[in-house]
Amino acid sequence: MRLQAPKGTYDVLPLDQPRWHHLFDTTRRVLGRAGYQELTTPILEHAEVFEKAVGDAADLVVQKEMYTFEDRGGRHLTLRPELTAGVLRAFIERGMHTWPSPVKLWSAGPAFRAENVQRGRYRQFHQVNLEIVGSDSALADAEAIALMGDLLAALGLRRTVLKVGSVGDPDDRARYNAYLTQALAPHAEALSPTSRERLRLNPMRVLDSKDAGDQELVATLERPLDFLGEGARAHFGAVTGHLDDWGVAYEIDPAIVRGLDYYRRTAFEVHHQGIGAQSALGGGGRYDGLVRQLGGPDVPGIGWAMGVERLFDALEAEGVTATDRDRPLAFLVAMDEAAVSELAALARALRAEFRIEHAYVRRNPTKGLRDADRSGAIYAVLRGERERDAGVVMVKHLERGDQVEIPLEALADHLRAAARDEPQPSTSLHDAGVRTADRG
Ligand code: HAM
Repeated sequence: MRLQAPKGTYDVLPLDQPRWHHLFDTTRRVLGRAGYQELTTPILEHAEVFEKAVGDAADLVVQKEMYTFEDRGGRHLTLRPELTAGVLRAFIERGMHTWPSPVKLWSAGPAFRAENVQRGRYRQFHQVNLEIVGSDSALADAEAIALMGDLLAALGLRRTVLKVGSVGDPDDRARYNAYLTQALAPHAEALSPTSRERLRLNPMRVLDSKDAGDQELVATLERPLDFLGEGARAHFGAVTGHLDDWGVAYEIDPAIVRGLDYYRRTAFEVHHQGIGAQSALGGGGRYDGLVRQLGGPDVPGIGWAMGVERLFDALEAEGVTATDRDRPLAFLVAMDEAAVSELAALARALRAEFRIEHAYVRRNPTKGLRDADRSGAIYAVLRGERERDAGVVMVKHLERGDQVEIPLEALADHLRAAARDEPQPSTSLHDAGVRTADRG
């Protein structure tokens, strides 16, 4: 059998790396300026962490999607399907409630869900995640939502649609679920099998159905926003008030329902029309009660996550690309046997300052220049018997084609001057530039 990556997973090839660096560098910058600290939690957690967070019957779909296994010590472990539960486990375990409040954290990394694979839906995907733990202020909700927009804009995205709603307090949800159960009972037979199951376990999620028949029924129903109690209504008004004050563009979605069941009050999603059926770039909401549900103190919280792969799809749809400006400054070509080890030693010395590559074998000038070209280098530096006798190297600018002979000892100075003149910085490994393609 030919070895392959598991279904729903993929390799990030070298050419794809710049956009990952761009994404994480931009996230660190935008969220860092707002006082968020980076937290890295394990990819593996005890299954209990997610079972407690997601709830038992609450979302069978999420439960079924989890990769859970027993290790050799008989422990039930789960590959995290999302980052929030692990972040809150760390919050509790590390006593972060004693830190200055609220605790503002961001994280990024892989998550796993055993889903049906399709465009925008993978089994190993990646999230950028933000949490504010310890504040019930509407300002926290508004800041979380606004920062999501800020990050999307900083990445270069313009065509995103932010939808904000509220799923109410637990009492409101209970009333709405009771209403739904009653309103849909006479139509249960007409519902899709998934919606029928949801009607039994978590009626609100029927609103989420993609089935056309279900949607027709749903359109006749009242929405969660119509069922908000006084507290949730006032909170929602305050959140949208802040967003209006700050000039954040959003739409109110009275029927927003999130896939995960821990949300209270504010719920939001951001969509992009250019990336196919899985149009949600990200989503989140308030989860007061969840930290206590996980065995911690009774502190409120709000957060969001965005899907990295979907962000890349959206960036591609808008013609925004991160380019790798980190080309080698020079590629050294040995034209005889003696030059091979000579240039290898020279490359090691020059690398203290510049990005330098070289061939490991002797090359004739034609092949050597081709290698240099393919490496993306700005200069080729050639040396063979003739150059050795004269104590020089040949330096050729690969794009312009001009070449000069310079004494070997002068090479470092020459490259230093050249690096100053070239628009590309050649020293930073993580410096990916952003270019907006001409969409004419
Ligand atoms: P979520 O809506 O389940 O929320 O996931 C957030 C985002 O992750 C989605 O909008 C989507 O872009 C991406 N995503 C989810 N599943 C997949 C998949 N199979 N393949 C590719 N991308 C996917 C959460 O995970 C919550 N923990 C967000 C949150 C943080 N709420 C509060 N704090």
